[in-house]
Formats: sequence, C-alpha cells, structure tokens
Amino acid sequence: MQDEQGAVAEASARIDVLLAAMCERMLAGGIEHPAADAELILGHVLGESRGRVQALAIMREEISSTAAAAAVELTEERARRVPLQHLTGRAPFRSIELAVGPGVFVPRPETEIVAQFAIDALQLVPDPEPIAVDLCTGSGALALALAHEVPRARVWAVEKSREAHAWAERNVAEWGDDRVSLVQGDVTELAAITALAPLVGRVHVLVSNPPYVPSNMVPRDPEVRDHDPELALYGGLDGLDIVRNISRSARAFVVPGGSLVLEHAETQGRAIRELLTADGWRAAATHPDLTGRDRATTAVR
Ligand SMILES: C[S@@+](CC[C@H](N)C(=O)[O-])C[C@H]1O[C@@H](n2cnc3c(N)ncnc32)[C@H](O)[C@@H]1O
Repeated sequence: MQDEQGAVAEASARIDVLLAAMCERMLAGGIEHPAADAELILGHVLGESRGRVQALAIMREEISSTAAAAAVELTEERARRVPLQHLTGRAPFRSIELAVGPGVFVPRPETEIVAQFAIDALQLVPDPEPIAVDLCTGSGALALALAHEVPRARVWAVEKSREAHAWAERNVAEWGDDRVSLVQGDVTELAAITALAPLVGRVHVLVSNPPYVPSNMVPRDPEVRDHDPELALYGGLDGLDIVRNISRSARAFVVPGGSLVLEHAETQGRAIRELLTADGWRAAATHPDLTGRDRATTAVR
C-alpha cells in the first residue's frame, strides 16, 4: 500500500484493508502501536465509535473512496507525529470529552488518577456545596471532571496562557454546568488574582497538574516536544518551580483539613513531600498510578 516515499499510495475502500495500510504508514512514522489510532481516525472520519469501526472491519465492510481518502490524509499527519487528539479535535478524559488543539496541553490518562484523588476528597466534604480549585487548568480537564462527577461542587479554574484559556472557555461552556468559573491568571501570583480573593480560607480541595518537566529534559516524543506548549511542560531547573509556588501561596486558600492533590513526575515524590511538609502541609503522601509509578502526591492543610 506504500509508494517509495512511504506515503499510502492508494486507499482501499474495504475497511480492514484500509486499517492495515494506515497502521503500516504509522509504524513507518515511528508509532509503535498504531491500531487504536487507526481505528480512532477512521471512526472520526465516519462519525462512528471505535467499537463500531472494529465491527465493520471484522465484517469486511466497505466505505466510500472519499472517506478513505480523508482517513489516509489524517494518517499521513499522524505519521508525521501530530497528536491524534489534534487531528480529531477531541480528548476523552474520564467521563467527558474535551475540545483540544494547538495551544493547549492534551489531557493524559495518568491525570485521570489524579482527578480521582480530588473527586474522592471532594465527595467526603460535608458542606452541601464544596469548593474546589484547579490551578494550571489547561483545557479545563481536572476542573470539569470534578464538576461533572461531583454535581454539588463549585469549581474555580486558573490558566495563564491565552490560547489554553480559550480552549478551556470552550470546554467550560460545553461541560461546566454553570458551576465552573474560569480565570485567566498566573498561579505564581495567586494573591493578585482578584477573582480568587473571596476563596481565601474556603477551598476544600485544591488540585493541580502543573508544568513539572525539568528545563534541561526535553521530552523525546515529537507529539509532546513539538505540539504541547512549552509553558505547559517546563517547571524550571528541577521542574518544581510552580509546585513550590503553589505549596507556599495556595495554602492560604485551603480550609483547615482541606486537601491538596498534585500530579508530578515519578522521581519527584520525595522532594514534593519534603517541600510541602516544610511549608506546613500535613500527611504528605505519594501514590502510584496503575503502572506502579509515583505520579501523585496528596497533603492536608
Ligand atoms: C501540564 S499542563 C496541565 C493542563 C491540565 N491541568 C491537564 O491536566 O490536562 C500545565 C498547564 O499550566 C499552565 N501554566 C503554566 N504556568 C502557569 C502559571 N504560572 N499560571 C497559570 N497557569 C500556568 C500551562 O499553560 C498549562 O496549561
């Protein structure tokens, strides 16, 4: 199915054959496990679920050559390592699906576990209308998952980047249920954000997936390196600049007994527990994700 340049030369209209050609092209682009991407790209083109595409492939159904050509075009982009979510324009996150594209960090599956810690803490709050804050919200993923899964919660979300904020605005309009307030602001200057002033001492759960990549550790995957915004990735020399800031300045916003939930790299757990404890947070604990890597730390005010 490939010509000498490695491009998919012609698209079969039979779904199973087309999927195989798409996989071959993506493998040549360095994508190790392309089957899911192929099915999701084709599903996006056809307006069908991935499961439906799999069923159609098993039945060796055919699609129009126009649809096949559209799938091939997206496959070429994916093989050039454009993130799948930028091609489909959507990123699933827990039970919601966010609009994403250039200028915003694509929400990751590991952050779904971080969301779970925040949701569990929020659900335990006896207050009839618990308050959560998501710092560095990006697409709004954590804030919107919290609001969606804890329907009595009020959630504030803070994002610095104008581009990311615009994506979050769109997602808040779709999923926010009038309970998510989005603020454009710098979390390193929390006290200066007037919209947050009424929240001092009132926040039950503060969650953040901040930038935490050390500045000299450029990610290897082109999807991350070339397509996630730099502001979303890098957190200074040891990656912890924003975490240090949050630890110090966000404490004033959290009610005594309230929770802090942070995502971080697997090597950063101990440093984060130490700096949180030094700043007066209690019961700092680091938790493994489903693959056993330490990716979240929680603490209590
Ligand atoms: C790793 S991304 C996480 C996005 C989102 N929370 C998620 O989990 O998908 C970090 C986000 O923090 C934002 N950010 C970086 N520095 C910031 C700052 N000083 N104040 C507010 N937001 C910041 C970036 O623009 C980016 O959207």
